[in-house]
Amino acid sequence: MTELKVLIERDAIAKRVAEMGADITRDYAGQQVILVGVLKGSAIFLADLSRQLKLDATFDFIGVSSYGNRPSPTQELKSGWDSTGEVKLTKDVDQSMKDKNVIVVEDILDTGLTLTVLKKLLLAHQPRSLKIAALLDKPSRRKLPLQGDYVGFTIPDEFVVGYGLDYAERYRNLPDICVVPRESHG
Ligand code: IMP
Ligand code: MG
Repeated sequence: MTELKVLIERDAIAKRVAEMGADITRDYAGQQVILVGVLKGSAIFLADLSRQLKLDATFDFIGVSSYGNRPSPTQELKSGWDSTGEVKLTKDVDQSMKDKNVIVVEDILDTGLTLTVLKKLLLAHQPRSLKIAALLDKPSRRKLPLQGDYVGFTIPDEFVVGYGLDYAERYRNLPDICVVPRESHG
């Protein structure tokens, strides 16, 4: 693999995550929250964001994968993913979300398909409130109308890795968010 180009450095990520934590702390002052991390990409973001919350917080995790129609990573890099295919639940939350303040923690909002499905699923629990915290947002890729309530960075239509995000399961452990150059594939 050719070299990755840093898009957002670790210091900038830390600063922005602290700001998001302060916003959430202010909005939920005196209340309890459940952070629902979307596996696996949100793991590092959730770990850092949660430690910026001065709130009574618990964790849960939910797992999703897309049905057959998401292309291979190489294909996705070349032409993007324009399907509105289905999302399959691979791990449900462990507890009822009824009457709880739920914050879904996601690495990146892309087409919006994943979060649209997850929102519907979690709303069926009848939570007291449901919000989305996403580290990254690629609004130019959106296929379904969906907005994050707390968004770290809006980025252009590039494929990014690091800080939890993967390319074929690799690079999640990079401390910076980097762009995978499109022309280096296929
Ligand atoms: P959506 O359902 O299209 O919004 O897709 C969201 C999911 O696609 C994210 O949770 C990521 O797993 C994956 N994804 C979208 N864009 C990227 C990217 O640039 N790098 C790594 N994963 C991505
Ligand atoms: Mg993912």
